[in-house]
Amino acid sequence: MKKIMTQVSAPDLSKMEEANVVDAIRSTWISSTGSYINRFEKEFANKCSTNYCLSVCNGTVALHLALLALDVRHGDEVIVPSLTYIATANAVRYVGAEPIFIDVDPKTWCIDPDLIENSITRRTKGIIVVHLYGHPADMDRINHIAAVHGLWVIEDAAEAHFAKYKGDPVGSLGRVGTFSFYGNKIITCGEGGAITLNDKNLSIRAKTLRGQGMDPNRRYFFPVTGYNFRLTNIACAILCAQMERYKNILTKRLNIFSTYREFLSEINGISFQPVAEWAEPTPWLFCIVVNEKEYGKSRDDLIRLLENQGIETRPFFIPLHLLPPFREQSVERKDSLIHTEKISRSGLNLPTFSNLSKKEIEKICSIIRSSSLR
Ligand SMILES: Cc1ncc(COP(=O)(O)O)c(C=O)c1O
Repeated sequence: MKKIMTQVSAPDLSKMEEANVVDAIRSTWISSTGSYINRFEKEFANKCSTNYCLSVCNGTVALHLALLALDVRHGDEVIVPSLTYIATANAVRYVGAEPIFIDVDPKTWCIDPDLIENSITRRTKGIIVVHLYGHPADMDRINHIAAVHGLWVIEDAAEAHFAKYKGDPVGSLGRVGTFSFYGNKIITCGEGGAITLNDKNLSIRAKTLRGQGMDPNRRYFFPVTGYNFRLTNIACAILCAQMERYKNILTKRLNIFSTYREFLSEINGISFQPVAEWAEPTPWLFCIVVNEKEYGKSRDDLIRLLENQGIETRPFFIPLHLLPPFREQSVERKDSLIHTEKISRSGLNLPTFSNLSKKEIEKICSIIRSSSLR
């Protein structure tokens, strides 16, 4: 294998993030109290059009906290898409519940609303939708089904900061929205996460659980067993700078997306992520899908070819129902998730980060073009 020269992602950090971190350190507020935490939570809630935002230590914890706050327990079932990162289903298991996997809609790559009702049982408590690869799920239809059956909806928006559904920001469309600020995300602080929500009582419950279960009105009195899920003031100092710069970060990534689309257009067997007419996706990682017959090479052949030229890519997520922690239950349920498996097998993410030059994109695209059957 050749040395990787172009990685798949890199954070966009500037002097502003650096200055904020120095400021947080000099203030001595380096743990989970401090002005950057309050500022970030206020700004992010504002941006998501929600009443509340609670920062937490990563996106997996955000999901876990949302499920705990919603009182999901042992024996409950939660409907989730199989085409997602494992954290979505792991969090369901952390609270003793079982993820019930359903297929995605090939028009959005997100959970297919038409298949939800068939999977609802007496044990079903809610639905976690994933706004996959920056594209929002069809929230109106999902919320309607949830309302009819008395279920809640969590939006896993780890990959979709600032995406919009019919003009409204993701994170404001379900009972709780969850976000990740891992290093490869649109905005980052290395490791971090958040939940967004409108319900005051639910936010008090989540805040209590986030801080070891301490009564918000009585210090060192713990009415419930809680967790330490807090994020630090240093991390929020980075996030505050990222929030000041997010429009600039998005513009750079949107340019990368349009350059890829331009240079990869009309290659036999190469297609892009679909975009629904009601969606305003966020430019996370650029996705392509390889049709092996038409292109003449498989997705994995193309990944190897690019790797040999020093270009790192990412295969799409392996469907969760096929992975060892979930496989047995999935076989028992006779899951048949055709679209999930097809998309997973044929898709890959190309390098997407602010400093990726047009020249590098051109090189990546010319390798992809010259390898096609023509
Ligand atoms: C869809 C999805 N959900 C949850 C997570 C978990 O976030 P984190 O890595 O911050 O724990 C990720 C992470 O990349 C993700 O892609």
